Amino acid sequence: MNTRFTFCMIKPDAFKNDSVSDILLEILKAGFKIRGIKITMLTKGKAEQFYDIHQGKDFFDRLTSFMSSGPVMAMVLERPDAVESLRALIGKTDPAQAAEGTIRRKFGTDTTHNAVHAADSYENAEREWSFFFSKREIY
Ligand code: CMP
Repeated sequence: MNTRFTFCMIKPDAFKNDSVSDILLEILKAGFKIRGIKITMLTKGKAEQFYDIHQGKDFFDRLTSFMSSGPVMAMVLERPDAVESLRALIGKTDPAQAAEGTIRRKFGTDTTHNAVHAADSYENAEREWSFFFSKREIY
């Protein structure tokens, strides 16, 4: 398993709050290299597909409506121990519970509007970046 790559997505609330560049800076300062990057807008159907594992949960409609409400920035990031490092950098799902200094604590508002998504395993990371990028778009 290649533990150098992970998937990250900056969410629509960060675009609305104008915090995308500050979040990117935090990611770069933490030593990640950007290997793929694009801004796109998910349809509701695409958001439902991306978050398929959360189908049936009470927050599913809220989550997918929000994720299709504005632009997202999808990224393939490289660093040793990429998944664990990025998860630590962004902090817990709920910004109020995320540790001081983490991205969600700094830039998130609530559990839905939490600024960033990061893959929780190497297997999911590959599934998630393949959702946005062809092989040629990752260098
Ligand atoms: P993310 O890392 O994008 O992965 C799944 C998302 O579901 C998560 O961040 C949250 O934004 C959202 N989520 C998880 N739990 C809840 C919840 N209890 N209420 C609302 N949204 C949630």
